[in-house]
Amino acid sequence: AVKVKKICCIGAGYVGGPTCAVIALKCPHIQVTIVDLNQTRVDAWNSLDYKLPIYEPGLEDVVRQARGRNLFFSTDVDKGILEADLIFVSVNTPTKKTGVGAGFAADLNYVELATRRIAAVATSSKIVVEKSTVPCRTAESMRTILEANSKPNARFDILSNPEFLAEGTAIDDLFRPDRVLIGSLQTPEGVDACASLAEVYANWVPRERILTVGLWSSELSKLAANAMLAQRISSINALSAICEATGANIDEVAHAIGYDSRVGPKFLKASVGFGGSCFQKDILNLVYLSESLHLSEIAAYWRQVVEMNEYQKRRFAKKVVDTLFNTITNKRITVLGFAFKADTGDTRESASISLVRDFLSEKAFVNIYDPKVEEAQIWQDLSEAVPGTPLEIIKKSVTICNDALSACTNAEAIVVATEWKEFRDIDWQVVYDSMNKPAFVFDGRMLLDAQKLKEIGFNVTVVGRGGRP
Ligand code: NAD
Ligand code: UDX
Repeated sequence: AVKVKKICCIGAGYVGGPTCAVIALKCPHIQVTIVDLNQTRVDAWNSLDYKLPIYEPGLEDVVRQARGRNLFFSTDVDKGILEADLIFVSVNTPTKKTGVGAGFAADLNYVELATRRIAAVATSSKIVVEKSTVPCRTAESMRTILEANSKPNARFDILSNPEFLAEGTAIDDLFRPDRVLIGSLQTPEGVDACASLAEVYANWVPRERILTVGLWSSELSKLAANAMLAQRISSINALSAICEATGANIDEVAHAIGYDSRVGPKFLKASVGFGGSCFQKDILNLVYLSESLHLSEIAAYWRQVVEMNEYQKRRFAKKVVDTLFNTITNKRITVLGFAFKADTGDTRESASISLVRDFLSEKAFVNIYDPKVEEAQIWQDLSEAVPGTPLEIIKKSVTICNDALSACTNAEAIVVATEWKEFRDIDWQVVYDSMNKPAFVFDGRMLLDAQKLKEIGFNVTVVGRGGRP
């Protein structure tokens, strides 16, 4: 197998950036260049004061150690392709907004453009690695495009190497992955290419954690893994509604279920609904795949995971309205947290967006505070969430605050939407004193000490916790 000396990664986003920065850190003998068309993003990766384009605990430290040594960020995509012997394609694959499969299928336009660029530029053989999450059999389309456009002497081997990192813990996940999955064609060339990539990971990942499988299994495993993880959350959230109606406590139920070693304790936390760029997109992708294979029952089964999540978000917003005497018109509601989970500044598909949209449709005023999300991002998300309403109008009802305390002052109710630790450590007595009475707290993350809040005088509602004793 070819020994990889130069890697190029196309796409300097949440996946390409951290993944290839860690490869550079762990493999000082390999030159890693991450390229992207977005100049602002590349400039941020190269910024002298390390104002990186994404927030991820531990990332800055990795970039500080490797950048300029064997890690480079550039907009020169062609040079990156030309020099590399292995190329990761780590571009975005969002849900299609228009055309065939709109609302379900993955938009593969960015993958195709990157693939065509590789074919147009490469003058020698390359291993091309799908890092993006793609529908099953995308590697075949990539190979067809590459072979139809390649130069003589340039042959391409295609691997699938989906990424399993979660945001907020990306660096830990990359340092100590549960597994690395590499899919290849089971031909001598395919197996050889697979060995080359496995060699790269073996610099820090134990061999037994590097799984090698067929191309199509690898592609499907990524969609399947996300679908099953999201299904756990939708299952526990479905049970949370039963808890709220009966007086059972979802935390206790999850604990009892998770003690069964066949189920396991992780990823059973009831919440205001899952968010993030992956779960919904990848399940819809699986639904689309099932539909196109004429497996409509399978499609309906997975679709329900997303529908349950939509229901959970709506149900939570409705609970706020119901509890505040069936109207929140002209009332001030504070939303603590706008990121889709703690320890990230990412807001893609965040439950907070749906909550704020629902509160605005009830004509409430909304204060928002998040420790990591940029103000401009919140405005962009809200304008997309309420199409047809000009931003100036939205701004009349929404205030973005610089700290939790000022966000809560004069509010009627506080909604905890992201499990940022700092929300637990707020001086809740001071918050209580600054609010209108009765003062309500809605904990969508089971984050706060509900007993303590009740003693202060708050009216407290926690997801998955029943009202009856
Ligand atoms: P992202 O939007 O943060 O980054 C993608 C980058 O690719 C962007 O900066 C974009 O400018 C660049 N790009 C697009 N087309 C390009 C081209 N032709 N040439 C050069 N650059 C180009 O996306 P992401 O969150 O990093 O996700 C990338 C892929 O990884 C997706 O398929 C996603 O499903 C998958 N994934 C994401 C996560 C996650 O936690 N975010 C986890 C696992 C897998
Ligand atoms: C997910 C997968 O975990 C990861 O393996 C894949 O590579 C990308 O998609 P990510 O979306 O970054 O990662 O974060 P994750 O920790 O999975 O959380 C997703 C959403 O589910 C968040 O909104 C989170 O708050 C929510 N969640 C998670 C719950 O509501 N309950 C849980 O028990 C776990």
